[in-house]
Amino acid sequence: MNLDGGVALVTGASRRLGKQIATALARQGCRLAVHYGRSGTQANATAAELRELGVEAEPFGADLTRPAEIDRLFEQVGERFGRLDLLVNSAASFERGAFEEIATGEWDDVLDLNLRAPFLCLQRAAALMRREPRAGGVPAAAVNMADLSGLLAWSEQAHHGASKAALLHLTRLAARDLAPHVRVNAVVPGPILPPPGMALEDPAWRRTVERLPLGRAGSCGEIGQAVVFLATNDFVTGASLLVDGGEHLLGAGHH
Ligand SMILES: NC(=O)c1ccc[n+]([C@@H]2O[C@H](COP(=O)([O-])OP(=O)(O)OC[C@H]3O[C@@H](n4cnc5c(N)ncnc54)[C@H](OP(=O)(O)O)[C@@H]3O)[C@@H](O)[C@H]2O)c1
Repeated sequence: MNLDGGVALVTGASRRLGKQIATALARQGCRLAVHYGRSGTQANATAAELRELGVEAEPFGADLTRPAEIDRLFEQVGERFGRLDLLVNSAASFERGAFEEIATGEWDDVLDLNLRAPFLCLQRAAALMRREPRAGGVPAAAVNMADLSGLLAWSEQAHHGASKAALLHLTRLAARDLAPHVRVNAVVPGPILPPPGMALEDPAWRRTVERLPLGRAGSCGEIGQAVVFLATNDFVTGASLLVDGGEHLLGAGHH
Protein backbone atom coordinates (compact mmCIF):
# COMPACT_ATOMS: atom_id res chain seq x y z
CA MET A 1 0.00 0.00 0.00
CA ASN A 2 1.22 3.45 -0.83
CA LEU A 3 0.74 5.53 2.31
CA ASP A 4 0.89 8.88 0.50
CA GLY A 5 -2.56 10.47 0.86
CA GLY A 6 -3.92 7.49 2.83
CA VAL A 7 -5.59 7.87 6.22
CA ALA A 8 -4.10 6.31 9.36
CA LEU A 9 -5.56 6.13 12.85
CA VAL A 10 -2.94 5.67 15.57
CA THR A 11 -4.28 5.01 19.06
CA GLY A 12 -2.36 6.53 21.96
CA ALA A 13 -0.66 8.95 19.57
CA SER A 14 -0.52 12.03 21.79
CA ARG A 15 2.95 11.28 23.15
CA ARG A 16 5.77 8.72 23.51
CA LEU A 17 5.93 5.84 21.00
CA GLY A 18 2.49 6.39 19.45
CA LYS A 19 3.41 9.98 18.61
CA GLN A 20 6.64 8.85 16.91
CA ILE A 21 4.78 6.19 14.92
CA ALA A 22 2.33 8.87 13.75
CA THR A 23 5.30 11.06 12.79
CA ALA A 24 6.90 8.25 10.76
CA LEU A 25 3.59 7.77 8.92
CA ALA A 26 3.20 11.51 8.30
CA ARG A 27 6.67 11.51 6.71
CA GLN A 28 5.24 8.96 4.24
CA GLY A 29 2.44 11.40 3.39
CA CYS A 30 -0.26 9.78 5.56
CA ARG A 31 -3.13 11.86 6.88
CA LEU A 32 -3.42 11.24 10.60
CA ALA A 33 -6.21 10.65 13.07
CA VAL A 34 -4.36 11.23 16.35
CA HIS A 35 -6.18 9.31 19.06
CA TYR A 36 -5.67 10.20 22.73
CA GLY A 37 -7.12 9.11 26.05
CA ARG A 38 -6.42 11.80 28.65
CA SER A 39 -3.63 13.81 27.00
CA GLY A 40 -5.79 16.20 24.96
CA THR A 41 -3.36 19.11 25.19
CA GLN A 42 -0.45 16.95 24.01
CA ALA A 43 -2.61 15.46 21.24
CA ASN A 44 -3.40 18.98 19.96
CA ALA A 45 0.32 19.79 19.96
CA THR A 46 1.15 16.52 18.19
CA ALA A 47 -1.48 17.16 15.51
CA ALA A 48 -0.06 20.66 14.99
CA GLU A 49 3.48 19.22 14.61
CA LEU A 50 2.22 16.67 12.09
CA ARG A 51 0.49 19.40 10.07
CA GLU A 52 3.84 21.17 9.90
CA LEU A 53 5.08 18.11 8.00
CA GLY A 54 2.49 18.96 5.33
CA VAL A 55 -0.25 16.42 6.11
CA GLU A 56 -3.75 16.69 7.56
CA ALA A 57 -3.88 15.68 11.23
CA GLU A 58 -6.66 15.89 13.78
CA PRO A 59 -6.94 14.74 17.40
CA PHE A 60 -9.78 12.47 18.58
CA GLY A 61 -10.33 11.63 22.24
CA ALA A 62 -11.76 8.31 23.46
CA ASP A 63 -11.43 6.15 26.56
CA LEU A 64 -10.71 2.83 24.87
CA THR A 65 -11.95 0.84 27.87
CA ARG A 66 -15.46 2.05 26.93
CA PRO A 67 -16.86 0.34 23.81
CA ALA A 68 -19.33 3.18 23.18
CA GLU A 69 -16.41 5.62 22.96
CA ILE A 70 -14.66 3.33 20.47
CA ASP A 71 -17.82 3.39 18.33
CA ARG A 72 -17.87 7.18 18.51
CA LEU A 73 -14.15 7.40 17.64
CA PHE A 74 -14.65 5.48 14.40
CA GLU A 75 -17.79 7.44 13.54
CA GLN A 76 -15.85 10.68 13.96
CA VAL A 77 -12.86 9.47 11.95
CA GLY A 78 -15.24 8.30 9.19
CA GLU A 79 -17.03 11.67 9.17
CA ARG A 80 -13.78 13.67 9.13
CA PHE A 81 -11.74 11.67 6.60
CA GLY A 82 -14.33 9.53 4.80
CA ARG A 83 -12.02 6.51 4.72
CA LEU A 84 -9.42 4.53 6.68
CA ASP A 85 -6.37 2.76 5.25
CA LEU A 86 -4.29 1.94 8.31
CA LEU A 87 -4.99 1.30 11.99
CA VAL A 88 -2.17 1.19 14.53
CA ASN A 89 -3.24 -0.17 17.91
CA SER A 90 -0.59 1.43 20.13
CA ALA A 91 -2.50 2.60 23.24
CA ALA A 92 -1.90 0.30 26.19
CA SER A 93 -1.07 0.21 29.85
CA PHE A 94 2.01 -1.32 31.45
CA GLU A 95 1.06 -2.73 34.84
CA ARG A 96 3.08 -5.02 37.06
CA GLY A 97 2.02 -6.99 40.11
CA ALA A 98 2.79 -10.07 42.16
CA PHE A 99 0.78 -12.97 40.69
CA GLU A 100 -1.21 -13.69 43.85
CA GLU A 101 -1.99 -10.03 44.47
CA ILE A 102 -3.46 -8.97 41.13
CA ALA A 103 -7.08 -8.03 41.92
CA THR A 104 -9.94 -8.98 39.61
CA GLY A 105 -10.54 -5.33 38.74
CA GLU A 106 -6.87 -4.80 37.86
CA TRP A 107 -6.94 -7.86 35.59
CA ASP A 108 -10.09 -6.59 33.86
CA ASP A 109 -8.69 -3.07 33.39
CA VAL A 110 -5.53 -4.39 31.70
CA LEU A 111 -7.37 -6.84 29.47
CA ASP A 112 -10.04 -4.26 28.56
CA LEU A 113 -7.41 -1.80 27.32
CA ASN A 114 -4.68 -4.07 25.93
CA LEU A 115 -6.85 -6.76 24.32
CA ARG A 116 -10.56 -5.94 24.06
CA ALA A 117 -9.91 -2.41 22.75
CA PRO A 118 -7.58 -3.55 19.91
CA PHE A 119 -10.19 -6.21 19.01
CA LEU A 120 -13.02 -3.68 18.90
CA CYS A 121 -10.84 -1.20 16.98
CA LEU A 122 -9.99 -3.90 14.43
CA GLN A 123 -13.71 -4.70 14.00
CA ARG A 124 -14.71 -1.06 13.53
CA ALA A 125 -11.67 -0.31 11.37
CA ALA A 126 -12.37 -3.23 9.04
CA ALA A 127 -15.89 -1.90 8.37
CA LEU A 128 -14.57 1.60 7.59
CA MET A 129 -11.70 0.23 5.47
CA ARG A 130 -14.09 -1.84 3.34
CA ARG A 131 -16.46 1.10 2.83
CA GLU A 132 -13.89 2.93 0.67
CA PRO A 133 -11.58 0.34 -0.91
CA ARG A 134 -8.10 1.24 -2.18
CA ALA A 135 -7.39 1.51 -5.89
CA GLY A 136 -6.48 -1.82 -7.48
CA GLY A 137 -7.96 -3.82 -4.58
CA VAL A 138 -4.85 -3.27 -2.44
CA PRO A 139 -5.64 -4.42 1.11
CA ALA A 140 -5.84 -1.98 4.01
CA ALA A 141 -3.57 -2.68 6.96
CA ALA A 142 -3.53 -2.86 10.74
CA VAL A 143 -0.53 -3.06 13.05
CA ASN A 144 -0.82 -4.14 16.69
CA MET A 145 1.85 -3.01 19.14
CA ALA A 146 2.64 -6.07 21.23
CA ASP A 147 5.44 -6.69 23.73
CA LEU A 148 8.05 -9.37 24.39
CA SER A 149 6.20 -10.11 27.62
CA GLY A 150 3.63 -11.74 25.34
CA LEU A 151 6.27 -14.27 24.26
CA LEU A 152 8.42 -14.70 27.37
CA ALA A 153 7.26 -15.53 30.91
CA TRP A 154 8.56 -12.43 32.64
CA SER A 155 7.96 -12.23 36.35
CA GLU A 156 5.16 -10.12 37.87
CA GLN A 157 3.49 -9.30 34.55
CA ALA A 158 0.70 -11.91 34.49
CA HIS A 159 -2.05 -9.55 33.33
CA HIS A 160 0.19 -7.49 31.01
CA GLY A 161 1.93 -10.53 29.52
CA ALA A 162 -1.31 -12.47 29.06
CA SER A 163 -2.91 -9.47 27.31
CA LYS A 164 0.04 -9.11 24.91
CA ALA A 165 0.23 -12.87 24.24
CA ALA A 166 -3.45 -12.84 23.36
CA LEU A 167 -2.90 -9.75 21.18
CA LEU A 168 -0.29 -11.68 19.19
CA HIS A 169 -2.74 -14.53 18.61
CA LEU A 170 -5.53 -12.06 17.85
CA THR A 171 -3.21 -10.65 15.16
CA ARG A 172 -3.11 -14.06 13.46
CA LEU A 173 -6.84 -14.69 13.90
CA ALA A 174 -7.74 -11.28 12.48
CA ALA A 175 -5.26 -11.72 9.62
CA ARG A 176 -7.06 -14.92 8.66
CA ASP A 177 -10.61 -13.63 9.04
CA LEU A 178 -10.12 -10.17 7.53
CA ALA A 179 -8.14 -11.37 4.48
CA PRO A 180 -7.99 -10.40 1.68
CA HIS A 181 -9.38 -6.95 2.55
CA VAL A 182 -7.21 -6.12 5.56
CA ARG A 183 -3.71 -7.32 6.44
CA VAL A 184 -3.03 -7.55 10.16
CA ASN A 185 0.46 -7.71 11.66
CA ALA A 186 2.21 -6.99 14.94
CA VAL A 187 5.39 -5.28 16.06
CA VAL A 188 7.08 -6.74 19.12
CA PRO A 189 9.35 -4.00 20.46
CA GLY A 190 12.17 -4.52 22.90
CA PRO A 191 13.08 -1.70 25.29
CA ILE A 192 12.56 1.62 23.49
CA LEU A 193 11.40 4.10 26.15
CA PRO A 194 11.51 3.42 29.90
CA PRO A 195 8.04 2.82 31.37
CA PRO A 196 6.20 6.05 32.30
CA GLY A 197 7.74 7.41 35.50
CA MET A 198 11.15 5.76 35.01
CA ALA A 199 14.11 7.96 33.96
CA LEU A 200 16.57 7.04 31.20
CA GLU A 201 19.33 7.11 33.84
CA ASP A 202 17.50 4.65 36.12
CA PRO A 203 19.96 1.82 36.92
CA ALA A 204 17.29 -0.83 36.25
CA TRP A 205 16.68 0.57 32.75
CA ARG A 206 20.41 0.88 32.02
CA ARG A 207 21.00 -2.73 33.14
CA THR A 208 18.16 -3.93 30.91
CA VAL A 209 19.45 -2.26 27.77
CA GLU A 210 23.17 -2.85 28.32
CA ARG A 211 22.57 -6.61 28.59
CA LEU A 212 20.87 -6.79 25.20
CA PRO A 213 22.83 -8.52 22.44
CA LEU A 214 22.91 -5.19 20.58
CA GLY A 215 23.80 -3.35 23.81
CA ARG A 216 21.42 -0.39 23.60
CA ALA A 217 17.78 0.64 23.68
CA GLY A 218 15.94 0.84 20.38
CA SER A 219 14.86 4.19 18.98
CA CYS A 220 11.32 5.33 18.28
CA GLY A 221 12.43 5.79 14.66
CA GLU A 222 13.30 2.09 14.43
CA ILE A 223 9.78 1.20 15.58
CA GLY A 224 8.28 3.72 13.14
CA GLN A 225 10.30 2.08 10.36
CA ALA A 226 8.89 -1.36 11.29
CA VAL A 227 5.32 -0.02 11.27
CA VAL A 228 5.88 1.58 7.85
CA PHE A 229 7.26 -1.72 6.53
CA LEU A 230 4.26 -3.72 7.76
CA ALA A 231 1.86 -1.04 6.48
CA THR A 232 3.36 -0.99 3.00
CA ASN A 233 4.37 -4.60 2.19
CA ASP A 234 1.18 -6.01 0.65
CA PHE A 235 2.21 -9.67 0.95
CA VAL A 236 2.76 -9.76 4.72
CA THR A 237 -0.11 -10.71 7.01
CA GLY A 238 -0.35 -12.49 10.36
CA ALA A 239 3.31 -11.71 11.07
CA SER A 240 4.93 -10.60 14.32
CA LEU A 241 8.05 -8.57 13.71
CA LEU A 242 10.53 -8.51 16.60
CA VAL A 243 12.36 -5.19 16.83
CA ASP A 244 14.12 -5.81 20.11
CA GLY A 245 17.90 -5.63 19.79
CA GLY A 246 17.94 -9.41 20.20
CA GLU A 247 16.31 -9.35 23.66
CA HIS A 248 14.21 -12.45 22.88
CA LEU A 249 17.46 -14.43 22.50
CA LEU A 250 18.11 -13.98 26.23
CA GLY A 251 14.98 -15.89 27.28
CA ALA A 252 12.66 -15.21 30.19
CA GLY A 253 15.47 -15.12 32.78
CA HIS A 254 16.53 -11.67 31.56
CA HIS A 255 13.65 -10.09 33.56
N1 LIG B 1 7.92 1.92 25.33
C1 LIG B 1 8.51 0.77 25.06
O1 LIG B 1 9.73 0.63 25.16
C2 LIG B 1 7.67 -0.42 24.64
C3 LIG B 1 8.23 -1.69 24.69
C4 LIG B 1 7.46 -2.78 24.31
C5 LIG B 1 6.16 -2.59 23.86
N2 LIG B 1 5.64 -1.34 23.82
C6 LIG B 1 4.25 -1.17 23.34
O2 LIG B 1 4.20 -0.10 22.40
C7 LIG B 1 3.00 0.67 22.60
C8 LIG B 1 3.34 2.13 22.87
O3 LIG B 1 4.24 2.20 23.96
P1 LIG B 1 4.32 3.48 24.94
O4 LIG B 1 5.43 3.21 25.89
O5 LIG B 1 4.30 4.71 24.14
O6 LIG B 1 2.90 3.30 25.70
P2 LIG B 1 2.32 4.13 26.96
O7 LIG B 1 3.04 5.41 27.09
O8 LIG B 1 2.31 3.22 28.14
O9 LIG B 1 0.79 4.32 26.54
C9 LIG B 1 0.43 4.79 25.27
C10 LIG B 1 -0.84 5.57 25.35
O10 LIG B 1 -1.96 4.76 25.74
C11 LIG B 1 -2.99 5.66 26.03
N3 LIG B 1 -4.00 5.12 26.95
C12 LIG B 1 -3.81 4.58 28.17
N4 LIG B 1 -5.01 4.26 28.73
C13 LIG B 1 -5.97 4.62 27.81
C14 LIG B 1 -7.39 4.54 27.78
N5 LIG B 1 -8.11 4.03 28.80
N6 LIG B 1 -8.04 5.01 26.68
C15 LIG B 1 -7.34 5.53 25.66
N7 LIG B 1 -6.00 5.61 25.62
C16 LIG B 1 -5.32 5.17 26.69
C17 LIG B 1 -2.35 6.88 26.66
O11 LIG B 1 -2.90 8.02 26.03
P3 LIG B 1 -3.19 9.40 26.87
O12 LIG B 1 -1.86 9.82 27.38
O13 LIG B 1 -3.77 10.30 25.85
O14 LIG B 1 -4.16 9.04 27.96
C18 LIG B 1 -0.86 6.71 26.35
O15 LIG B 1 -0.31 7.86 25.78
C19 LIG B 1 2.24 -0.01 23.73
O16 LIG B 1 1.29 -0.90 23.20
C20 LIG B 1 3.32 -0.78 24.48
O17 LIG B 1 2.82 -1.91 25.17
C21 LIG B 1 6.35 -0.25 24.20
